[in-house]
Amino acid sequence: MSEKNTDNRGGRIDSKDLRNGVAFTHEAAQSQAAAAIKSIPSMLKDYSCPICNRTFAIYADLQHHYADEHPDAVVPVKVSFNVNGKDCEVLIEPHWTLQRTLQFRLGLTGAKQMCNHGACGSCTVIIDGRPVLSCMTLAIECEGKSIETIEGIAANPKWKPLVDAYCRWDAMQCGYCTPGFLVTAKALLDRNPDPTEEEIREALAGNICICGTYPRHSTAIMEAALKMAQGG
Ligand code: FES
Ligand code: FES
Repeated sequence: MSEKNTDNRGGRIDSKDLRNGVAFTHEAAQSQAAAAIKSIPSMLKDYSCPICNRTFAIYADLQHHYADEHPDAVVPVKVSFNVNGKDCEVLIEPHWTLQRTLQFRLGLTGAKQMCNHGACGSCTVIIDGRPVLSCMTLAIECEGKSIETIEGIAANPKWKPLVDAYCRWDAMQCGYCTPGFLVTAKALLDRNPDPTEEEIREALAGNICICGTYPRHSTAIMEAALKMAQGG
């Protein structure tokens, strides 16, 4: 007989739904994603020199400081964008990719760095409505843009049918590629709420899963599309 526990909303869950004692339910994933979005640092209050740790109230003073004290070093750049509905500002080196910036400046680990060469799709995010490889996109190119990550999709109840369908059809094994598939699927359903299997395969062509879960992605996405058309 399966051991019973109580989840973080007071509901009953089976021990098979626990990973390291943490409830592995859609509600738990949704609240974790919402917490990750909430903790995204917003606008910078000051600008710290990563070389000597001096802090400046305005960015121009940091630039002057580099000119005076570190003339041979690359000056960090300030970039502002909207991530999952939250306006934020980061200070990064100009060569940083969006994937690296999301992970190391904003604490969003959902966009995975796998191949880091634009070949696998694990790092996919949506920029201004288009699925984009965040390992191949410089963060400075995203100034003023609107970025959506897997955390934004997981936190939004509208996309519960998609997440549920992926779980129900076991469209994942190791899971590293899964966020990229889900983000690509969401972008597809945004522009085409009733895709054919052929259209799904075409949309997912840039997402690679070495575990070979491909047929289940199409099944899960078509089921989610149907559920969403019926009102979730
Ligand atoms: S990590 Fe970006 S495409 Fe593979
Ligand atoms: S589940 Fe995608 S690489 Fe394993």
